[in-house]
Amino acid sequence: MPLKKKIQELKKKREEVQMGGGEKAIEKQLSMGKLTARERIVSLLDRDSFHEYDLFVEHEARDFNMDKKVLHGDGVVIGTGTINDEPIAIFAQDFTVAGGSLGLMHARKITKIMDHALKMRMPLIGINDSGGARIQEGVNSLAGYGEIFFRNTLSSGVIPQISVILGPCAGGAVYSPALTDFVFVVENISKMFITGPEVIKTVLGEEISMEDLGGARVHSEITGNAHFFAVSEKECFEQIEKLLSFIPWNNNMKAPKKEPKLPKAKYNIDNIVPGDAKQPYDIRDVVKAIVDDSDFLEVQELWAQNMVIGFGRINGETCGFVCNQPLVLAGVLDVDSSDKAARFIRYCDAFNIPIITLVDLPGYLPGIDQEHAGVIRHGAKILYAYSEATVPKATVIVRKAYGGGYIAMSSRHLRSDFVFAWPTAEIAVMGPEGAANIIFRKEIMSAEDPEEMRKQKVAEYKEKFANPYVAAARGYVDSVIEPVETRKLLIHAIEVAKNKSISGPKKKHGVPPF
Ligand code: HXC
Repeated sequence: MPLKKKIQELKKKREEVQMGGGEKAIEKQLSMGKLTARERIVSLLDRDSFHEYDLFVEHEARDFNMDKKVLHGDGVVIGTGTINDEPIAIFAQDFTVAGGSLGLMHARKITKIMDHALKMRMPLIGINDSGGARIQEGVNSLAGYGEIFFRNTLSSGVIPQISVILGPCAGGAVYSPALTDFVFVVENISKMFITGPEVIKTVLGEEISMEDLGGARVHSEITGNAHFFAVSEKECFEQIEKLLSFIPWNNNMKAPKKEPKLPKAKYNIDNIVPGDAKQPYDIRDVVKAIVDDSDFLEVQELWAQNMVIGFGRINGETCGFVCNQPLVLAGVLDVDSSDKAARFIRYCDAFNIPIITLVDLPGYLPGIDQEHAGVIRHGAKILYAYSEATVPKATVIVRKAYGGGYIAMSSRHLRSDFVFAWPTAEIAVMGPEGAANIIFRKEIMSAEDPEEMRKQKVAEYKEKFANPYVAAARGYVDSVIEPVETRKLLIHAIEVAKNKSISGPKKKHGVPPF
């Protein structure tokens, strides 16, 4: 056959396979506000940069009439391309083909691209839209998931792994995302659950919608499984591009340095923190008054909002910010906020991103709910993560730093490299009211006017301890600084620490309070 004809044949074969599950299934996909797998990849990557692998892979299943079924590409599209001219590996499950369900060959395609990503030290993006393990392929499907989970774990801390949930993701389909670094969801489109409504109805006799069970908002606000929430696939892809602009391509690299920019003038650092320590304010305004162009990419914005985490640049260098949020629950540490901060600290540490901690909290949240939810174990994660992190660490005590909260939030004692405190800082074992009630109880109770005596003792305690100077006198705080000096000193800290090198005792790995 002449070459021209062979080329025509190839083109025809390609077109046929690229139709996935066929016109009707594609129409159904589009009618739900979803793009097709290939459209998603093309929208996300640089123009004309996508190269597809394994287009002609077919399944080999025989049971349940599968031998009569053609599943184009076995329900997944894999390949490599670029984003902002940097290489990435990607897979996108094709829901139009057997519901994107994962059979043996489908899994082999995914593991092929995962191996490629790890070898080439480039980020892996997985677009998930799948009914989970392909029921007809039995244990082969389960084996496929196991192979994926193993590779997710192997790649963890070496290359960034990004999961995008763009459809129903059931059963095994949610565990790979859970093992990756960042999970993106889209309103009304993303669903994540281990057992779907059908199973729940059968086993528990309860009716529940997919949205209520595991919709985008559920995972962004309640479970914390999702890190970024978007209202459309387009917005989601823009968020991914933005995230990639902040992070390094692998653990041997630093994040790309950008042109330094001053924070926007509207964020005046002197006017953010109220004089009255009981008044709340938005810690994000302090971050925006510090970072280049006031550009702060918040991670897990809608979950555990008493803790704010995210990326910003200081003089062009990416930093990870970990901040108490006085606007929500006075910024306390609790089960969820500890988990949120601890994981982010470990991400930054794995990928050479300096950590800046802004402190303003009254301590750990008291109460039976928290105790029974395991605040001891969860709270310990943040201590572990900060202690273990060897990237440059700078701490700014903005206002309250009480008790366990003072220690946990990147204190000198957990080896923060730079500890700055504003003159508004209050560093003590607990707040003045609580402290005075305990240590001056006898004097207060026996006084002629107990209320007046309480006020006096609170003021006495405040005068003595609720300031940064006692800690500064011991060297626990390096410098008491004016708020306006913060950015300059952080730039200095990052610069001074750029060759930081420390190592701990030799071990296989620690045993963190997972
Ligand atoms: C085989 C599947 C499938 C699956 C969907 N399909 N899920 N085929 N195995 N797991 C097929 C359907 O048969 C259908 O094929 C097509 O995909 C589209 O599915 P629909 O049900 O028509 O779509 P929709 O109404 O949108 O519902 C989507 C869904 C639902 C919510 C995902 O299909 C569903 O509940 N699927 C099962 C989900 C589940 O319980 N998975 C867990 C598997 S166990 P046709 O030919 O009709 O177009 C698991 C264990 C791993 O994953 C654990 C590892 C730790």
